Amino acid sequence: MTDLLASPNRTDEWAVETHGLTKRFGENIAVNDVELLVPRGSAFGYLGPNGAGKTTLIRVLLGLTHADAGTMTLLGHAIPRHRDVALARVGAIVDEPRFHGHLTGRQNLQILAAARERAAKGRIDPALERVGILHRADDKVSKYSMGMRQRLGVAACLLGDPQLLILDEPMNGLDPAGMQDMREMITSLVSEDRTVVLSSHLLDEVERTCDAVAIVDRGKVIRQGPISQLLAGSPFEVQVECSDPDRARSLLEGTTFVSHLQVGPNGLAISLPENTQRDVVAEINRLLVEGGISVHGIQQIQVSLEEWFLSVTSRLGAPE
Ligand SMILES: Nc1ncnc2c1ncn2[C@@H]1O[C@H](COP(=O)(O)OP(=O)(O)OP(=O)(O)O)[C@@H](O)[C@H]1O
Ligand SMILES: [Mg+2]
Repeated sequence: MTDLLASPNRTDEWAVETHGLTKRFGENIAVNDVELLVPRGSAFGYLGPNGAGKTTLIRVLLGLTHADAGTMTLLGHAIPRHRDVALARVGAIVDEPRFHGHLTGRQNLQILAAARERAAKGRIDPALERVGILHRADDKVSKYSMGMRQRLGVAACLLGDPQLLILDEPMNGLDPAGMQDMREMITSLVSEDRTVVLSSHLLDEVERTCDAVAIVDRGKVIRQGPISQLLAGSPFEVQVECSDPDRARSLLEGTTFVSHLQVGPNGLAISLPENTQRDVVAEINRLLVEGGISVHGIQQIQVSLEEWFLSVTSRLGAPE
């Protein structure tokens, strides 16, 4: 594997950059030629179904397992060459946060802080407070709920005053209130100019928490970009209320920009293919009015990102 010749002090606009990153387990390609560009100071979601290769990607990024091909940098530092410099400013939770159950939350953080720079010790209590478990800091971790362990995991990340946090499924095991707290925590970390990369199989969570997303299926990134941009390219429907839906259907039947037409109780539902421009709505209106149909209402219905995500992952992940 080639290694980028990044100097230890290099800073880039990307918090994470990978090119052609690949990791195989025998025949199984868990990370397949992945190109990632994660902007600094953003929340970035690595979104994919179970087995898509999210945890494996994170393990490769952290140098916990070697890549079979490709290059990568974290905070501008080449991995694995400058792994130690990079990881000094990276906090990560992989799979599930693991702690010594027979020790308290605070004791666990003390052990972790001892392995870091001096200042880390002074960050223990503020970190516990920030994640909302300071009042339970002296209880044994074996008595913590899953949600409290997740919070302790984030507190552990904060000990290094990280510029980059990599969180593997941070919403796992959290109840709705816990998810809301985690979301707010991530947003507040990003507002401090830190970068948060999180993996998830929950589209809804990524949609609510992240600025940009990479959608991954069977190791391959199949879409990447700001969520608004991905949504703009996703299919949408137009619902038309008009004087004569059946005739409206015949009028539009021959047009190239329509993928499906259906007359229902609310009028005519028009499905449009992916990457349709929004001005097609005006075109539909014009055609109908010119055809002598009175249009009472015309409404765009966005296909939810959930439906879109399911369609993209199932279609593109299907065996070729
Ligand atoms: N140590 C390993 N040895 C062999 N195969 C592995 C190993 N770790 C992961 N895999 C395989 O690599 C693929 C990706 O697994 P990975 O755990 O990265 O997926 P994931 O997206 O994190 O899934 P989940 O949502 O279930 O956590 C799977 O097919 C898995 O079986
Ligand atoms: Mg995983």
